[in-house]
Amino acid sequence: MTSKGQVSFHGSAVAPDNFLEDVVTGLSLARKELPPKYFYDARGSALFEEICTLPEYYPTRAEIALTRQHIAEIARFAGEGSELIEYGSGASTKTRILLEALEPAVYVPVDISESALRGAAALLETEFPWLNVRAVVGDFGRPLAIPAFAGAGRKVVYFPGSTIGNLTREESLAFLHMTRGQVGPGGAMLVGVDVKKDPNLLHAAYNDSQGVTAKFNLNLLSRINAELGGDFEVGKFVHYAFYNAPMGRIEMHLASLERQTANVGSYRFRFAPGESIHTENSCKYSVEEFQALAAQAGFRGEKVWMDDARLFSLHGLVAA
Ligand code: TRP
Repeated sequence: MTSKGQVSFHGSAVAPDNFLEDVVTGLSLARKELPPKYFYDARGSALFEEICTLPEYYPTRAEIALTRQHIAEIARFAGEGSELIEYGSGASTKTRILLEALEPAVYVPVDISESALRGAAALLETEFPWLNVRAVVGDFGRPLAIPAFAGAGRKVVYFPGSTIGNLTREESLAFLHMTRGQVGPGGAMLVGVDVKKDPNLLHAAYNDSQGVTAKFNLNLLSRINAELGGDFEVGKFVHYAFYNAPMGRIEMHLASLERQTANVGSYRFRFAPGESIHTENSCKYSVEEFQALAAQAGFRGEKVWMDDARLFSLHGLVAA
């Protein structure tokens, strides 16, 4: 291809996030919680990229390996000249493998972090000069306005990284329903899903020895302090992550080391010693469990690819 692609940025045309309201609501619950999407300010997005390179964090490596290994089949599944939409694209690292093989008519990266999106788009522009990029700054958890692109083939939503695991099962079902509407009849999804395995391996992946995951988790409190005028004593909270086997998920918490209070604007929150703020889930699915969930949302599970060690899965779904 010789013609030059175009790169443009778009807002998601929905109501903006209300960070303060979400924080106050979450911290007012009997079991305190905070929405994980707020992890991803510029520092959080950078820390997350660092997590992906950690020795204990196997999902990124396993997903890249399986994508490389099966790329011909994945490309055949997706079809050429498609409109490739990626939710939570971040640095678009894995996407490069797909872009090369699929040669989509247009690539629509969607991310909540504008800095991550701008950085990724600038690199893609030099690496893939032929590629049309329509970047959308927004929250894929809500209905999105995706800019139209004339002449593109079918819509394929790429949702790697087991980000779907960060939604509860009910939220995942609603999200899959919404995405089925977004891709339309015959549209497709490529979803990366972490699978159930030895809990020790899972535990290590979210409790890395260098403490990067801890920094990533604690950064949420720093962000509340910086952006909402909070006064959390970040040193008096610790990262606490464990595998909840009955629920089939890793839970990440920020646990208070002592009795303390924290103020956010005019709101005051009390913490008992050991009390935690639940900041994220990372649900793990067997291949069968995830296919059943996708079917419930009106998708036909057409393909499943895994790495040799069977640590991670990529599901090829078609809107039924
Ligand atoms: N979705 C991925 C996962 O659940 C990546 C991720 C999101 C993550 N938040 C994280 C990884 C926090 C480590 C820590 O594994």
